[in-house]
Amino acid sequence: MKKIAVLTSGGDAPGMNAAIRAVVRYGIGVGMEVMGVERGLQGLLDDAFIPMNMRSVSDIIHRGGTILKTARCLEFKTEAGQQKAIENLRKNGVEGLIVIGGDGSFMGAKAMTDHGFPSIGIPGTIDNDLAYTDFTLGFDTACNTILDAINKIRDTMSSHERVSIIEVMGRNCGDLALYTGMCGGAEVIIVPEHNLTIDEIVDTLGGGQLHGKTSGIIVLAEGAGHADELKVELSKRTDMIIKTTRLGHIQRGGSPSCRDRFLGTCFGVHAVKLLEKGIGNRIVGIRDNKFYDMDIVEGCSMKKKFDLDLYNTAVIVSR
Ligand code: ADP
Ligand code: F6P
Repeated sequence: MKKIAVLTSGGDAPGMNAAIRAVVRYGIGVGMEVMGVERGLQGLLDDAFIPMNMRSVSDIIHRGGTILKTARCLEFKTEAGQQKAIENLRKNGVEGLIVIGGDGSFMGAKAMTDHGFPSIGIPGTIDNDLAYTDFTLGFDTACNTILDAINKIRDTMSSHERVSIIEVMGRNCGDLALYTGMCGGAEVIIVPEHNLTIDEIVDTLGGGQLHGKTSGIIVLAEGAGHADELKVELSKRTDMIIKTTRLGHIQRGGSPSCRDRFLGTCFGVHAVKLLEKGIGNRIVGIRDNKFYDMDIVEGCSMKKKFDLDLYNTAVIVSR
């Protein structure tokens, strides 16, 4: 392929810029022309193509968000929208597309491949909710941002001997809550994949008190409930003073961690190498510390398994 395009779609994630940089520099390095598409799949419909050069991606590896902007695009879900996107890609002489995004964006990339347009997906989402890859771009940075918040909240909770419910992102996937709950020393971790009753939560907090704990942290994934509602329920059954914090979009921003810059760079290069060989219809991932790619349809249909062993480990070490 002589000319490829790259875009970012869906929720942004720290490390997307590192991936864009790698696609542009590696692509140009092997003799390709690289176009950026602004505002994700919407940009394909709006003909928002911009030629990229080595300097277009200077000074971005350390920045959160995405220099190409991102968007959600309902029209892209229609046959007409997808045809228009392919028309614009062909009009610009583009032969292959790299989509950096989450499972929704991958459905978009799959639609392109279904129409015979070679597309590669790079997993970019803080949620870590894709089954075929151990880690997605942005997850590590988001975990570190959440941990920083937990540490700060813990200082004041322990000083005042209170319990804090910290609500973190994760619509369908509890990985952000699980990893940060475990590494932040939370007494209770609540995730959508593993049901906990109010009685079980109250018992855990009470058990902590019996063992001399005077404060506590509950990390709650948004997909499992809301902090303020949980506070109301818990307050009916315990006399501990409960405070809530919803971390919100602070979790999605910020300078990417070393790990996310590394993943972004390696995912980006891997994706271009596939297009270089004329291979489309793949998604790039990391499994057991090795970068790999798999069929887009197969990868998108895999169901993520919840790591119950890890959850149980977190429970045991939080007592
Ligand atoms: P993420 O990629 O972070 O999961 P979304 O779920 O919001 O984000 O999806 C991003 C975009 O992907 C959507 O706005 C839409 O343009 C496209 N998309 C999602 N599902 C499909 C689908 N089934 N077919 C085609 N495009 C889709
Ligand atoms: O990027 C994924 C995610 O962070 C979810 O965890 C969250 O529910 C959602 O995006 C919120 O995104 P937005 O505010 O852009 O709709």
